Amino acid sequence: MADSSRHDAWQAGDSYDAYMGRWSRQIAPRFLDWLGAADGLDWLEVGCGTGALSAAIVARCNPASLLSIDPSEDFIARARANVPDARAAFQVGDAQALPAASASKDVIASALVLNFVPDKEKALAEMKRVARRGATIGFYVWDYAGGGVEFMRTFWNAAAALDPAARDLTEDRRFPFCTQEGLTALAARAGLAPVECAAIEAPTVFRDFEDYWRPFTLGAGPAPGYCKALDPAAQRRLREKLHDNLPRRDDGSIHLKTRAWAIRSIADR
Ligand SMILES: C[S@@+](CC[C@H](N)C(=O)[O-])C[C@H]1O[C@@H](n2cnc3c(N)ncnc32)[C@H](O)[C@@H]1O
Repeated sequence: MADSSRHDAWQAGDSYDAYMGRWSRQIAPRFLDWLGAADGLDWLEVGCGTGALSAAIVARCNPASLLSIDPSEDFIARARANVPDARAAFQVGDAQALPAASASKDVIASALVLNFVPDKEKALAEMKRVARRGATIGFYVWDYAGGGVEFMRTFWNAAAALDPAARDLTEDRRFPFCTQEGLTALAARAGLAPVECAAIEAPTVFRDFEDYWRPFTLGAGPAPGYCKALDPAAQRRLREKLHDNLPRRDDGSIHLKTRAWAIRSIADR
């Protein structure tokens, strides 16, 4: 599966927003409500993408400061434009070497990122390093293994039925640790203990089949990366299979849901 990450393709902000950003924006406020951080704190956000969680932090948590980092220059430019707030700063950076001083932040948060980071324990240890004593460290990833991201699971089921090689690219195969037990164990290995884990859910409603299908053709993310790389005939077969399989309401809309696993820990250093 070493080759599978070539499909991840996190670069194009518009394509990301059409595929995932619109749904990650639904989960972000629910996660913040669960995280329960106070007003007036210094935040660090790891892997901000186009700013779904950053916008929610600024809107709901009244931060004293927010530094959001991501390795993608394009995403950082998008996030900066999407969250025009004097308290928020956006910077290119990597989860495995956070650009922040030790013991300098009150809340470290990360949305849908950890599974894409090569050294996950290092990323969590970095979050712990920059946390002040008593700081909150919180992150979430999709419930891939439990089929919690129904629009993605439906796509890959259809893709694998037509092309058995697609099975190795699916997120549940690539990221088997994204379960309640796997995440709790990973956090403990990185020195975050005790940790709490909760499921956070949101609906994903697609206007019609095109609203569901088009983002997969744009290339941002693992499933769209796979879809975009197919030759036209194979892409047409996949489209037809999905068109036949997806449940629709009378008005043509498609109602699915997403579930993320969220982790919360209080730093003891
Ligand atoms: C699914 S997107 C999530 C973006 C955003 N947090 C959201 O909720 O919409 C995954 C993000 O992880 C970022 N990422 C990938 N590898 C990373 C790393 N090593 N350090 C920090 N972020 C990383 C990608 O650039 C991308 O923005």
